[in-house]
Formats: sequence, structure tokens, C-alpha cells
Amino acid sequence: MHFRNIWHKNLATADKTGGRIIRGDMLHVASSLTPGIFRLIYLDPPFLTGREQIGSKEGLAYDDRWAGNLDSYLPWLQKRLQAIFPLLCSDGSLVLHLDWRTTHHARVLLDDLFGHEGFINEIIWHYTGGGRSKRRFSCKHDTLLWYSRSQKPVFNIDAVRQPYKQTSGYARSGIVAASGRKYLPDPRGTPVDDVWDIPIINPMALERTGYPTQKPLALLQRLISALTNPGDLVGDLCCGSGTTLVSAQQLGRNWLGCDISEAATECARQRLQHECSCEASIENL
Ligand SMILES: C[S@@+](CC[C@H](N)C(=O)[O-])C[C@H]1O[C@@H](n2cnc3c(N)ncnc32)[C@H](O)[C@@H]1O
Repeated sequence: MHFRNIWHKNLATADKTGGRIIRGDMLHVASSLTPGIFRLIYLDPPFLTGREQIGSKEGLAYDDRWAGNLDSYLPWLQKRLQAIFPLLCSDGSLVLHLDWRTTHHARVLLDDLFGHEGFINEIIWHYTGGGRSKRRFSCKHDTLLWYSRSQKPVFNIDAVRQPYKQTSGYARSGIVAASGRKYLPDPRGTPVDDVWDIPIINPMALERTGYPTQKPLALLQRLISALTNPGDLVGDLCCGSGTTLVSAQQLGRNWLGCDISEAATECARQRLQHECSCEASIENL
């Protein structure tokens, strides 16, 4: 089946947002899509945790064992990154979400694909909660690698300002430079930097679906707000519980979600229905 003609309309002028969920291997889904359609692709693939990922409702959600083996994981990832790359529009962005296990390898793969000048940011998503290690510093962050095909990708920093810290003297009265020039705080808040403190989804969180490794809406809302414009098409080809799709829908962006797991695509479909009143169909590739 081919999906080349899903998006007829000019992305920048789309007046009604919505999307499609496709179940299948992102490798095949990517090769069935029209090149250049996405402003942003967010990819949160298996992390090489060495575990079967079990959901609270669906049982086995997806297998992340790889026999604990980088040699089988990395070529798998590389092939899929290569297939996804042509789907970005000329000023489109890819954000690849991984952790300490593989992020350094992935950075090399992405430098090869985009050229080292395609690298824009390494965003650290820092969270707390969960257990603490007595053998080493506890691992409490993931890494999001942002690459673009353009030196000037869409970047709406004003859309993701945050309040100044209450203890900030600058926020209270600004500062005066040696030249005598006075700098005042921006009433819209301060631009976020590349370390993001966003809570993980705790067991009581309202947005919790039970799908394993679900990411917070706040994380995806920040990425989508900053890296796309309303009406753009956002892709998540490992969409899991559908966090990206729900965030995109809520922010007035079009979206396309893909996942190989039936539990994932069904979870995403239900979430869109309940959280956005959005009826999405699931296509099988
Ligand atoms: C880390 S989870 C994504 C979680 C998601 N971001 C969320 O918030 O729920 C990784 C997902 O990649 C999917 N996946 C694994 N191999 C895939 C493949 N070849 N093609 C598409 N999806 C795949 C898994 O089924 C799983 O849902």
C-alpha cells in the first residue's frame, strides 16, 4: 500500500488539523511516503534497554532486547534513519530521543547523514523520581538530538519561554552593563535553554496510559511549539501511546503516527479520541 498522496494540501495553509495512524515497520512506512512532507520528525525508538517492555493493559508492548547487542541494534537504527531523512522538508528538523546507552553512537550516525553542520542541539531532558543508585550517580536524564537539513530551521523560541526563577535578581530589577546600558527582564519570561526539567509520568498522572516508556505531553508540546508552525505536518514513526500525535493535534499541527506494535497504535487511537475528540483510523502496511 502507498501513502504518497495522503497530504494534498499546502502544509502552511492547512485550515483543519488531523492525521493518520499507520501500523507497520517505520522502514517500510517511510519508503511509502512522499519525500519532503514533514517539518518535524520526532523519533523515540527502543533504547536498547535489554528488556521486553510490558504495558499495564496490553501485556507485551514491544521487544527491546536485541540480545543486549549494539551490533544488531545500531545497523537497525541506521537503516531507519536513512529511510526517514528524505521525508524532511528543506528546513525540517529531526529530533532523535535516546539515552546514555546509545546516544553517542547515534550522534555519529546523524553526523554522517546530515553532515556535522546539521547538528543543532543536544537537549537534556532531566527528570526526578524513581529509585536511586548506591553504586553510581543515578541516571536521570535522556538526550534529544536535534538535527536539521537547514542552517535556519523553524525555531519559535518565543513560543516556549518560561517564567524566571523566583530567586532571580535579574527578573526583579534587570542588570546594568559596564557600558551603562540597562537590560530588563522580558515580561514573557526567559527563553528555555538546552536542559529541560520536565517531570516523568508518575503512576498517578492523569495522562498516564499504561503503555510503557510513554513520554510526557509537556516534552512534546515544547518541541512541537518551538520547531514547527501551525498547520505543519509532524511525524512520529515510533509513536507508541501517541504522545506526539495528541500534542500536535492540540497545538493545531497535522500529524502522522506509525508504530509496529498493535498495542501502540490502538492506544494512540483511543487517546486521540478521548483527549482530542479526534477519530483516527489505523491503516496496516
Ligand atoms: C520508546 S517507545 C515510544 C514511546 C512513545 N514516544 C510514547 O510517548 O508513548 C518505542 C516504540 O517504537 C516502536 N517500534 C519498535 N520497532 C519499530 C519499527 N521497526 N517501526 C515502528 N515502530 C517501532 C515500539 O513498538 C514502541 O512503541
